[in-house]
Amino acid sequence: MKPLPPSAEQQLRQLREELAATQAQLRQAGRLAALGQLVAGVAHELNGPLSCLSANTALLRDYLAELPPATAAQAATRGELAQLLDDTQAGVRQLLRIAGGLKDYARPAGQDGWEWADLHQGLEATLNLAAHELRRNARLVRDYGQLPPVPCVPAQLNQVLLNLLINAAQAIDGASGTITLRTGVRDDMAWFAVSDTGAGIAAAHLPHIFDPFFTTKPAGVGCGLGLALSRDIVRQHGGRIEVDSAPGQGSTFRVLLPLRRAAREAA
Ligand SMILES: Nc1ncnc2c1ncn2[C@@H]1O[C@H](COP(=O)(O)OP(=O)(O)OP(=O)(O)O)[C@@H](O)[C@H]1O
Ligand SMILES: [Mg+2]
Repeated sequence: MKPLPPSAEQQLRQLREELAATQAQLRQAGRLAALGQLVAGVAHELNGPLSCLSANTALLRDYLAELPPATAAQAATRGELAQLLDDTQAGVRQLLRIAGGLKDYARPAGQDGWEWADLHQGLEATLNLAAHELRRNARLVRDYGQLPPVPCVPAQLNQVLLNLLINAAQAIDGASGTITLRTGVRDDMAWFAVSDTGAGIAAAHLPHIFDPFFTTKPAGVGCGLGLALSRDIVRQHGGRIEVDSAPGQGSTFRVLLPLRRAAREAA
């Protein structure tokens, strides 16, 4: 016997729920875009003073070296000063790298947002940002293949990688484990994959992980939007995300992206 169609009221309620979920997703995406712009602006502003600090530290170091000969006690102090200046310079260089990473991460792309980009550059910029989050409990391994330029909106793909990296780090939480970042080409798709040695995903949860608001994390930790947004972004690129996971055996999320622009335009 044919099942009865759900009542109009039920359908309406379901449509309302879907609409509310989509609206929440849009709000979140809008917030992320605004945040990206803000971050790029702040990174840009930091660059000037940091470059000045770096140049001045180098100058001080030179002046110190040019000072006339000193007594033994003065020489010891000068040695310490030189060491302090070297440490300062190393710190400033690190800050410049982070500011550069932030700019790359949130970099506004070409006119319509699309460009032929080096995925590895985006991965590295994102890793720089996530370094602190990852270092807490995970060892990071890179296993990069050869990648040709990929037609994409780089800042959006950076967002996808960041979501996958944070999920991987959270899956390992409490223990220590490894996150492996791999890249390569399969058929006519470029791919990057994030593997973790964390908790893995229960078979019953697997069909739902891309649903908006599906989360197994406590309130305040996750709101269940990372994968939903990531899948939307990857679909807009004409690509797809594959998942391989089992409880206790970790997870691999692989993002496949078409290499041909035509595929993107058809998406
Ligand atoms: N690497 C992973 N290992 C184990 N479970 C995962 C992993 N990635 C995702 N999941 C599962 O999928 C769910 C949905 O992930 P998603 O990134 O969409 O949301 P979230 O991480 O819970 O919250 P948000 O990303 O919004 O902070 C997670 O709550 C978790 O149960
Ligand atoms: Mg998440």
